[in-house]
Amino acid sequence: MHFIEKLFIRSPLRVYFQRKFEAPMVLSNLNVSKDSICLEIGCGGGAGALLINQHLDCQRVIGVDIDPDMIKAARRYISRPPRWARNVRTDNIEFVCQDAAELPFPDAHFDAAFLFGVLDHIKDWQAVIAEVFRVLKPGGVFSFEEFLLSTSAENRLGHVSIREAELREALTGQGFSIRSFQVMKYIPRCFVRAVKGV
Ligand SMILES: C[S@@+](CC[C@H](N)C(=O)[O-])C[C@H]1O[C@@H](n2cnc3c(N)ncnc32)[C@H](O)[C@@H]1O
Repeated sequence: MHFIEKLFIRSPLRVYFQRKFEAPMVLSNLNVSKDSICLEIGCGGGAGALLINQHLDCQRVIGVDIDPDMIKAARRYISRPPRWARNVRTDNIEFVCQDAAELPFPDAHFDAAFLFGVLDHIKDWQAVIAEVFRVLKPGGVFSFEEFLLSTSAENRLGHVSIREAELREALTGQGFSIRSFQVMKYIPRCFVRAVKGV
């Protein structure tokens, strides 16, 4: 990832948008219980894991990122949480440095998986969807937000263009049942909720 992007995703502005606009869409109205194990793909600077705990009452949150700098930053971030997260649980969060296309977890391990704008950073993003499907329990939910069809400016930063039809096909082709697929009106972003095999 470009170093300016790395700085941005750890900035208070990025976290503000994630808290105010993205997390409420990705993490609300979910059937996640106290004994659930949650996965976050591409956890970046760690705010997503805190937001999962803020919105949901679950047993464990595991954040995965391929970039060791991000994993270090995420661990630091939750060790001294910002003011908005002072009362958010951190003792059940773990960060793992790993390629999301090769997750080091057994089949049917997680109750829910989340992702905030990561697939467009991964050439073989379909392999990540396949891995998420594998590690989710039957009936487990995959709730995420993603960029659709990147602009040329984004492509110069090395992003992948993902089209709505391709994303839908990759999900249903794996065996996900799409429960909602909301495309934003003025920005190329979508919010998707899919369930494993139901
Ligand atoms: C745009 S950032 C988003 C970070 C965070 N989810 C957020 O919303 O602020 C994309 C993240 O995906 C991570 N990433 C890229 N390719 C990955 C892969 N193959 N497996 C796991 N993480 C990956 C990057 O290191 C980066 O932290």
